[in-house]
Amino acid sequence: MTDTPDGRPKRQIDTSRASSARLYDLYVGGKDHYGVDKDAGTRLTEAFGKGSIQRIGTGARLFHDRAVRYAARELGMDQYLDVGVGVPKGPNTHEIAQAVHPASRVVYVDNDPIVLRHAEALLQSGPEGATDYAEADLREPDEVLAIARRTLDLDRPVALMLCSVLQFVPDDDEARAAVTAYLSALAPGSCLIFSHVTDDFAPEAWRETERVYAEQGIPANVRPRAAIESLVADLDLVPPGLVEVHTWHPDGTDTSSDHTHLYGAVGHKRA
Ligand SMILES: C[S@@+](CC[C@H](N)C(=O)[O-])C[C@H]1O[C@@H](n2cnc3c(N)ncnc32)[C@H](O)[C@@H]1O
Repeated sequence: MTDTPDGRPKRQIDTSRASSARLYDLYVGGKDHYGVDKDAGTRLTEAFGKGSIQRIGTGARLFHDRAVRYAARELGMDQYLDVGVGVPKGPNTHEIAQAVHPASRVVYVDNDPIVLRHAEALLQSGPEGATDYAEADLREPDEVLAIARRTLDLDRPVALMLCSVLQFVPDDDEARAAVTAYLSALAPGSCLIFSHVTDDFAPEAWRETERVYAEQGIPANVRPRAAIESLVADLDLVPPGLVEVHTWHPDGTDTSSDHTHLYGAVGHKRA
């Protein structure tokens, strides 16, 4: 059966184990998860306390929205490569970007088959722009860049998005190498929109989270600030730099001051 947007064989959804995309869907109040995800989510709620997991999901999503709006308005970005997009939970990157620049072009990538089931929402581009979705692994930058090239002009600046995804690349060197590989392939003027969960504020709860994910076959590395900083060390970060995401360019949409347990930043590729 070849029914992915790019004609590749469709992968099956494994409902016997939780997945990071479905767990995230649970955190942000979506409906695209199963009993096995809910069971894992219950253990995380026990570890963090009621409401905290939803807070992380909502804070991550609101950062996504503000950062894309910033890249579009302040940096003039009209091309986006959103890697680890997750189950669509509006507004999607292209909706935010095309509200500023209607001709914006966006390529979405994720390696979880649940996302493909909802890819239609990602493919509803405005008439002047374009979007594409493909299933691929961010640890294969050459493959992801080849997919991106079908829709984006890689000789022009691109906003690479790695939002709340590099914790699923546990090896520090591999995570750093991926960031470097993407940025070195992108044109001058490109930028990175980035967030990453941190264990700085609740180390015990995050160790339990890593255990729960590992039991589901999802290796994860929830990093302390220094390790996250090193992932973006080769970029020139726009002020205020790398901060907890709810404090990054607040615009009144995120009204909680509770920890989001994610550091986020927007950075320019160095010339
Ligand atoms: C926590 S969600 C983040 C969703 C979205 N980027 C956001 O910030 O709202 C992480 C997503 O990354 C995807 N993911 C994890 N590892 C990946 C990999 N190696 N390649 C591509 N996607 C990956 C998961 O399937 C999941 O959909």
